[in-house]
Amino acid sequence: MNNQMKLEFLSLAENVALARVTIASFASQLDFTLTDLEEIKVAVSEGVSNSIIHGYGNQPDGTVRVIASISGDTLELRIEDDGKGIEDIPQALQPAFSTEPDRMGLGFVFMQSFMDQFQVTSEPGRGTRVFMVKKQIVHEGGVDKVQGLEG
Ligand SMILES: Nc1ncnc2c1ncn2[C@@H]1O[C@H](COP(=O)(O)OP(=O)(O)O)[C@@H](O)[C@H]1O
Ligand SMILES: [Mg+2]
Repeated sequence: MNNQMKLEFLSLAENVALARVTIASFASQLDFTLTDLEEIKVAVSEGVSNSIIHGYGNQPDGTVRVIASISGDTLELRIEDDGKGIEDIPQALQPAFSTEPDRMGLGFVFMQSFMDQFQVTSEPGRGTRVFMVKKQIVHEGGVDKVQGLEG
């Protein structure tokens, strides 16, 4: 199956749940397990929260875009903002690194561990883009397999 959607909203904390639920519903068009869907929801929440909190510094007038597409057995997600950007991406990706002293610094760690592919690009002063891929597990004869990897 092939499908695509785009969700664009203001940088309000209320919209984190909107993005999470919408993307989970879209992802349900594939045969993801409940665990997979929970992981997708966490990845979306963390990415969108980052755009709102870090990208726009909690100012409510920024725009966040979430683009999701299904191609075959694969879900691709893009979370984009036009906020302040990330100066040092390797540092931002380190576990427990945060520019805010009261935060855990684990958002990127969750995104990386829950998704099969993960990539951050950013232009300081222009914005940040997170690209993530999750592949549906194919159930065959009681054994879980990642489609395409088996012989
Ligand atoms: N969309 C973004 N725009 C600007 N900075 C970001 C963005 N996403 C992440 N960052 C930076 O990367 C750091 C690590 O993010 P993350 O792992 O989610 O931890 P946390 O959100 O708890 O700080 C953030 O503290 C912030 O400095
Ligand atoms: Mg975060």
